[in-house]
Amino acid sequence: MVGVDQVLEKLATVVDPDLKKDIVSMGMIKDLELNSGDLKFTLELTTPACPFNDEIEADVRKAIDDIDGIENFDMKVTAKVMEGRSLDDDTLATVKNVIGVASGKGGVGKSTVSLNLALALSQTGAKVGLLDADIYGPSIPLMLGMKDGAMEVEDNKLQPATFNDLKVVSFGFFAEQEHQAAIYRGPIISGILKQFLVDTNWTNLDYLIVDLPPGTGDIPLTLAQTIPITGILVVTTPQDVASNVAVKAIGMFDKLNVPILGVVENMSYFACPDCSNKHYIFGNGGAKKISEKHEIPFLGEIPLNSGIMEGSDLGKPVMMTNAESPSAEAFRIAAKNVAAQCSIVAAKLQEEMQAEATTN
Ligand SMILES: Nc1ncnc2c1ncn2[C@@H]1O[C@H](COP(=O)(O)OP(=O)(O)OP(=O)(O)O)[C@@H](O)[C@H]1O
Ligand SMILES: [Mg+2]
Repeated sequence: MVGVDQVLEKLATVVDPDLKKDIVSMGMIKDLELNSGDLKFTLELTTPACPFNDEIEADVRKAIDDIDGIENFDMKVTAKVMEGRSLDDDTLATVKNVIGVASGKGGVGKSTVSLNLALALSQTGAKVGLLDADIYGPSIPLMLGMKDGAMEVEDNKLQPATFNDLKVVSFGFFAEQEHQAAIYRGPIISGILKQFLVDTNWTNLDYLIVDLPPGTGDIPLTLAQTIPITGILVVTTPQDVASNVAVKAIGMFDKLNVPILGVVENMSYFACPDCSNKHYIFGNGGAKKISEKHEIPFLGEIPLNSGIMEGSDLGKPVMMTNAESPSAEAFRIAAKNVAAQCSIVAAKLQEEMQAEATTN
């Protein structure tokens, strides 16, 4: 008769393509019960947004099919996002991953990418927050069509505004910010960001996306030095100028020992509505070259599309209003790749903690 060991041995042949580890040693098999030929268990994936979820599930079914003696098989598939940052100190201990979205120069689409990635992750069922860290020029409220006063203070904690399932914090929600922001100096700006990070009621988030202002100034530095973060997503455009300055941003986070999750190229190509071809009007492959040269993953390319811009201008993000469009699909692919990179960072962290525990 088939035994549990035999089932686990077979399941251990299924490897997570991103983590390059088998699903049994990763602890993805839960609540396994085997009675005579009746087998049931839960497959707990590392994120609902993993690009390989369907593949892993199919591989598991195939592995079980190959075992003689299993008559009935019942598998529940769930996902529990892994912690991609150290939660040792209790600052932001309820946030499993913090992802900074940075660029070398302004206007490359960080806010657009941050918002649509946050929505794409949220649509997979993950719990997601979006922090608009551009204190000088917050743009997220406009992109969501939300006004001042959407955020409240309760018991000395900021309560994020809510847009569908997304939790949002932005300086733009405070009245008169346009007039005040320009006169703030570095230390005050850093103080505001720290408050947004640690004095906000971010309850149980899988991913907190932080939309940074361009460059390598006080705000990106404050983010990297205030809390442990999972990593940085660098947004570039195909123009060489943008690509070169992107390298500076990568260099700064490298120096601070913050992992770079990868690079997303925005306004990458024009998707022709008539011939459905991709036209790389600004040249092809800039971000891929950066990713190869600096050995950081290339996580996706987003088309130049008037729908993306209009969506932002009208407060109706493309991920919500045109979820079936190729632009939304491009954001979904990038979001899955970002989630996969977070799982990779998390698995590495877990390994380091285990190694530390065995030496102590
Ligand atoms: N893929 C795209 N297709 C068309 N328009 C886009 C795309 N991405 C961004 N835009 C537009 O480009 C402009 C700049 O985008 P966004 O504000 O997201 O950039 P940013 O990098 O956050 O800018 P800043 O550095 O000022 O914070 C906006 O008008 C936005 O709607
Ligand atoms: Mg911006």
